[in-house]
Amino acid sequence: MAKISKRKNRKITFSIIKADVGGWPGHATVHPDLMTVASGELAKATKDDMLIDYHVTHVGDDLELLMTHTRGEDNEKIHELAWNIFEKATKKAQELKLYGAGQDLLADAFSGNIKGMGPGVAEMEFTERVGEPIVAFMMDKTEPGAFNLPIYKIFADPFNTAGLIIDPSCHAGFRFEIWDIQDHKKVIMNAPEETYDILALIGAKERYVIKRVWPKEEHPKLPADEPAAVISTEKLYQTAGKYVGKDDPVALVRAQSGLPALGEVLEGFAFPHLVSGWMRGSHNGPLMPVGVKNAICTRFDGPPRVIALGFQLANGKLIGPVDLFDDPGFDYTRETAMRVTDYMRRHGPFEPHRLPMADMEYTTLPDVMKKLAGRFEKTD
Ligand code: F6R
Ligand code: MG
Ligand code: MG
Repeated sequence: MAKISKRKNRKITFSIIKADVGGWPGHATVHPDLMTVASGELAKATKDDMLIDYHVTHVGDDLELLMTHTRGEDNEKIHELAWNIFEKATKKAQELKLYGAGQDLLADAFSGNIKGMGPGVAEMEFTERVGEPIVAFMMDKTEPGAFNLPIYKIFADPFNTAGLIIDPSCHAGFRFEIWDIQDHKKVIMNAPEETYDILALIGAKERYVIKRVWPKEEHPKLPADEPAAVISTEKLYQTAGKYVGKDDPVALVRAQSGLPALGEVLEGFAFPHLVSGWMRGSHNGPLMPVGVKNAICTRFDGPPRVIALGFQLANGKLIGPVDLFDDPGFDYTRETAMRVTDYMRRHGPFEPHRLPMADMEYTTLPDVMKKLAGRFEKTD
């Protein structure tokens, strides 16, 4: 108890660091032994006071480390802790001959910051409010741009978030930090003033991704320099120079008291929109919100899934999780997702189920073109 009160006025950092270090079987889910390795190491780090608290989970084949601490974002010790856990879990995966053991670990040794080394990272530092509800969203078989639509709806669409219209502390709107993940540039834009321009960018979700959402200067309750949401933006194929796995993203979203209510945050996922990254990283399919027990990618290695774990923070302690999509309130979304799954699957190898040529993770086209080289003739 004493330990908690000492930390009381310090900012809290919430970090999610994730990696696929071996699937079971294929790319379906994470073997419980890997979760045991991760929990054991994080329990030690908590006992040693490096962390305040932790939670380990998975979505599909991704091992997810949720950690709270007071060391700030991009902290070398926290990133090294995660890296070492992924290495240890990889050893276990090799022992069990799990599929693709260590596939997201692209470097031989840790070198200061885990970003760019394969794992995905979403971190934010903020002053914990009197009541601090926070949701960790984790996706499998898709890419960072899959968060664009729900995050936009949550923080900028009044048809999703009633608070934007009727809550004086939300009414000013929010600032969006948008990254161009091809050219490595970013821009901050204001909603609602610039919504058409924001949508012009983020509708192209393979290139422009929402990285953070910030309160505006005029927000009556929240400091403008502490984010309300953060999304991981690692693109493994850019990191490695070639496609070596998925970019399965994660995000943290704070809720209530001047931010969208928890139900407005979850409502952003009630429409199972089409995202890229399904089967061989080369297909579009609906994003299906599920409880953790159903976070297993089976049908055509999918369909792409998202889980949502909710917590109240108590001086950095994680009070939870509550498995927020494990709720009949999302049954209709799941049913729609399965109808769309069926509809999309019937396209077989045709676009728009298959991704455009440039975006496919797997392709035989160069070989096919080589084979046909002498047979192509000029058209009229
Ligand atoms: C992996 C994924 C899967 C694989 C597919 C082929 O996250 O999305 O759909 O791409 O199972 O995997 P390999 O090439 O490893 O046989
Ligand atoms: Mg995998
Ligand atoms: Mg995955």
